[in-house]
Amino acid sequence: MSSNYWEPPKNNLALEINNLSKIYNNEDNDIALDNICLTVKVGSIFGLLGPNGAGKSTLINIISGTVFKTSGNVLIWGIDIDKKRKQSKLAVGVVPQELNIDAFFTPNELLNLHSGMFNVPKIARKTDELLRLMDLSDKAQSYSRKLSGGMRRRLLVAKAMVHTPPILILDEPTAGVDVELRQKLWSHFKELNKLGVTIILTTHYLEEAENLCDHIAIINHGKIVANESKKSLLRKLNEKIIYIKFKNNIDKKSEQALKKIGTIKFDSNELQINFKPDKISMKKIIKIIYETDIDIIDLSTKDASLEDVFINITSKK
Ligand SMILES: Nc1ncnc2c1ncn2[C@@H]1O[C@H](COP(=O)(O)OP(=O)(O)O)[C@@H](O)[C@H]1O
Ligand SMILES: [Mg+2]
Repeated sequence: MSSNYWEPPKNNLALEINNLSKIYNNEDNDIALDNICLTVKVGSIFGLLGPNGAGKSTLINIISGTVFKTSGNVLIWGIDIDKKRKQSKLAVGVVPQELNIDAFFTPNELLNLHSGMFNVPKIARKTDELLRLMDLSDKAQSYSRKLSGGMRRRLLVAKAMVHTPPILILDEPTAGVDVELRQKLWSHFKELNKLGVTIILTTHYLEEAENLCDHIAIINHGKIVANESKKSLLRKLNEKIIYIKFKNNIDKKSEQALKKIGTIKFDSNELQINFKPDKISMKKIIKIIYETDIDIIDLSTKDASLEDVFINITSKK
């Protein structure tokens, strides 16, 4: 599966996006991508994380050439998509969000057909190797319509790799896949990455980005709101929330005391405290709350969700 003949670009960037914007021509003229700048290093597993409607697929589809950008620049493996569209397309294999499989071909036929479409000469075809890599060798001659959901996804990954591109792009590769199968898919992606393939994936599962990616960008309403190594992002995500419903007003002294726990926000008769569990113990928190004069009706805690993190990250800017 080596992609040696694709020399890494001089700046070692698999993907370089500058001031990319997309406005779909619908009634609302919504901005799907708003002046995005991103770079992906050769060899990494890069996760683009964001809620539904954030613009992930739009970005992927611009890179893969199925959606036209409104403005900005995109360089794939150092190749400008405006200058050398065809060549830039050869540098990526894409697994789109929608599972489109030609049900009447066998995996073997499908991969050969696609190799042909990319003008891969018969002798250089990687059909067997790809089927083996994706754990589909024993299904090579079965009809694709008989494959399970997980097998279909693996087949689509194999299909995306027939021309041995140096970059593999996966749009929500495990959406709707159960936990066990998801982990199996992850191990396949990691294996491809070890073989030298740069992987860019979108997901709305925090866990997926956590497990797979070394670098994570968060996109929300078409804007990049975070873009950093997984390590530093996870440090930020280490956050929990306490909700306190109270009866009477909270006096200034109690409010000051609560601020020792974390950042506080009021919403009528509910109080929200965001805190870092690695910075303050639950025992200490309970003590602080106990020693205030707050007339508590109810108290609950929860882990900060991706959405909370978005709100936190965006409100800081
Ligand atoms: N073909 C399209 N025509 C018009 N609007 C679109 C089209 N595709 C996506 N959008 C809009 O662009 C925004 C981003 O969508 P999308 O890129 O699919 O987000 P995601 O993949 O993160 O869920 C959404 O508001 C969506 O409604
Ligand atoms: Mg999408």
